[in-house]
Amino acid sequence: MASTSESKDQSARLLATCLIAGAVVVAGVTLLGAPDGLGLGILQWRRKKKKKPVRVYMDGCFDMMHYGHCNALRQARALGDRLVVGVVSDAEIIANKGPPVTPLHERMIMVNAVKWVDEVITDAPYAITEDFMKKLFDEYNIDYIIHGDDPCVLPDGTDAYALAKKAGRYKQIKRTEGVSSTDIVGRMLLCVRERSVSETKSHSSLQRQFSHGHSQKFEDGGSSGNGTRVSHFLPTSRRIVQFSNGKGPGPHARIVYIDGAFDLFHAGHVEILRIARGLGDFLLVGIHNDQTVSAKRGAHRPIMNLHERSLSVLACRYVDEVIIGAPWEVSKDMVTTFNISLVVHGTVAENDDFLKEQDNPYAVPISLDIFKVLDSPLDITTTTIIKRILSNHEAYQKRNERKAESERKYYDGKTFVSGD
Ligand SMILES: *[C@@H]1O[C@H](CO)[C@@H](O)[C@H](O)[C@H]1NC(C)=O
Ligand SMILES: *[C@@H]1O[C@H](CO)[C@@H](O)[C@H](O)[C@H]1NC(C)=O
Repeated sequence: MASTSESKDQSARLLATCLIAGAVVVAGVTLLGAPDGLGLGILQWRRKKKKKPVRVYMDGCFDMMHYGHCNALRQARALGDRLVVGVVSDAEIIANKGPPVTPLHERMIMVNAVKWVDEVITDAPYAITEDFMKKLFDEYNIDYIIHGDDPCVLPDGTDAYALAKKAGRYKQIKRTEGVSSTDIVGRMLLCVRERSVSETKSHSSLQRQFSHGHSQKFEDGGSSGNGTRVSHFLPTSRRIVQFSNGKGPGPHARIVYIDGAFDLFHAGHVEILRIARGLGDFLLVGIHNDQTVSAKRGAHRPIMNLHERSLSVLACRYVDEVIIGAPWEVSKDMVTTFNISLVVHGTVAENDDFLKEQDNPYAVPISLDIFKVLDSPLDITTTTIIKRILSNHEAYQKRNERKAESERKYYDGKTFVSGD
């Protein structure tokens, strides 16, 4: 049995702990007056908090997921203890805005890999319904529904989140990230040279397909007169810190290194990173700089700049650290400096440089016998994603042309009838 003085000591220690953790002070002060004493009060409070974590929910299509989505998920997670993410089904996306570029299983891989996501559910409706909201509260034990600060209205003009707001179970995050899917699609269309400037007019309709969640605002992608789209993203050290794990490798960690462009971060990237991480204790990812990627893959690549690509990779739960602007060749110096135990490369990549006799970027790790080729689980590359987007775009245009045609026929018919 603990003596009175011991428990007083404990109380003092606990109070000190609470005072250090500034935010908790209010709870400490409130508990001072509690009849069961401060220590017990706080212990109970802590236990209670441990027993029932705050569950928050956020949904979206997460088609062509980028670091802006990741940042929204990060903000949502900060409003609770566990983040449950609702991913909209392919059928719902098709019904509401046309076929998604990334099918559900790929979108699931992407969302599951975001390090702030705790659970993923697949039956999220495109526009949140009252029934679904009840299901979230009753079946998924959601405490708060999170949404961006853009208004979300239902077809009847009412606020989609009115019910959650009325119940005091709605929280909002700011969408401030300097990227939009609009922007990315614009850059992507530009990467196909033969496409003329006139096509840029139809972007907005295409871009709607890639909007994040519902009724996102579409900003102009930043056309600079001559059709060049530039990234508006201004990286800050704070954002990089927010995305970082902030931990180095442990004293005896086996460090695995993988490098690449990681442009338009996709499910193929996630899967190879997952396998690479499984081969060691710490995964270091080298991200090639924009000049290197352009030189190797063409003037319109990369689509996402170095900092954007770095954030997407950093948001991935399998990644421990990134090198922002890694050299093309893995040098002896790098292997030593970072204490790299294994260098890996996937079989499905945009280049087969590891097969080259001359100027093989992996010549050093190969000579050190620390190089390993990994079977890529998914047959997806950045080019695959770009091709899908372009074919979606063409299908969309054809659909529009057909519609225009039938409208023209209709009016022609009218003219004929009235002329009769
Ligand atoms: C487009 O314009 C920007 C500045 O407005 C310039 O820096 C860039 O070189 C131009 N690109 C081409 C292809 O002319
Ligand atoms: C370097 O990595 C090896 C594991 O491959 C580990 O045993 C060793 O302790 C590491 N060295 C340092 C200095 O961290």
